[in-house]
Amino acid sequence: MNKQYLEDVEEWLRGVANYLDKRQDGTGDLRDELDQLLEWKSGINEEELSATDIEQLQQRIHILHHNVTKLSQKDQESNLNKSVPIGKHTLPPLPYAYNALEPVISAEIMKLHHDKHHQAYVDGLNKAELMMQKARETNDFSLIKHWEREAAFHGSGHYLHTLFWEIMSPKGGGNPNGSLLKQIEHDFGSFEALKKHFSEAAKAVEGVGWALLVWAPRAKKLEILQSERHMNLTQWDTIPLLVLDVWEHAYYLQYKTNRAGYVDNWWRIVNWPEVQYRFDKASQLTWKTQ
Ligand SMILES: [Fe+2]
Repeated sequence: MNKQYLEDVEEWLRGVANYLDKRQDGTGDLRDELDQLLEWKSGINEEELSATDIEQLQQRIHILHHNVTKLSQKDQESNLNKSVPIGKHTLPPLPYAYNALEPVISAEIMKLHHDKHHQAYVDGLNKAELMMQKARETNDFSLIKHWEREAAFHGSGHYLHTLFWEIMSPKGGGNPNGSLLKQIEHDFGSFEALKKHFSEAAKAVEGVGWALLVWAPRAKKLEILQSERHMNLTQWDTIPLLVLDVWEHAYYLQYKTNRAGYVDNWWRIVNWPEVQYRFDKASQLTWKTQ
């Protein structure tokens, strides 16, 4: 039992060391405590551990755990309130090693997929954002269609890949449970039914794209969707606030071919308190900034 416990402690301490290494600043006391613990641990003889030793170790781990949790909560809060400046998206590090998902996904794929492809989406999104900013500044919107497409394509690429890395884990698999499982059973009948539907949808995506399990806040239910390529001019992982229907059925009877006239007039009837309401609700939902 001691051996297993010490192995678990060792693994946890390594994780804490990694976290502190990445964080670099403001970790003085924690770093000292961690180093002392590691030193103490390397000096002990596992076979001759007394109950008092174990008790002492548990106490120190408890304190370290408490302090690390506080620090990471602080980090998370400050990260949640940060926003990404225009053109400053960054490639999030993979949350595990390149080979961690083997044999399901090879290290070679992970490296290429993350370092090259995801990086290209980040770069493309940054460029599109900067070019759209330039269009606003110079009042030259002649290429707006192109940059909107780029923003959708690369933005969806960046957000979906970020999500993709995070919803996989070397310790993954098994079944969902708790409230998620309940919702799955409510909306699909069973987890098996969801799995079948999701797999079939993924296999049937025409060309390239994604299969997605999504939450529909209005219908309050889960839905499975396909996304061909990955955007069709949307950025997945965003929430619409203000929308304007420019299908012909929305204006043709009155404006005929004058879509521009319809669009310009439309601003006179926007219900801003409702947009504000949607913004207030939507901005409460915060993921890690990237
Ligand atoms: Fe991809």
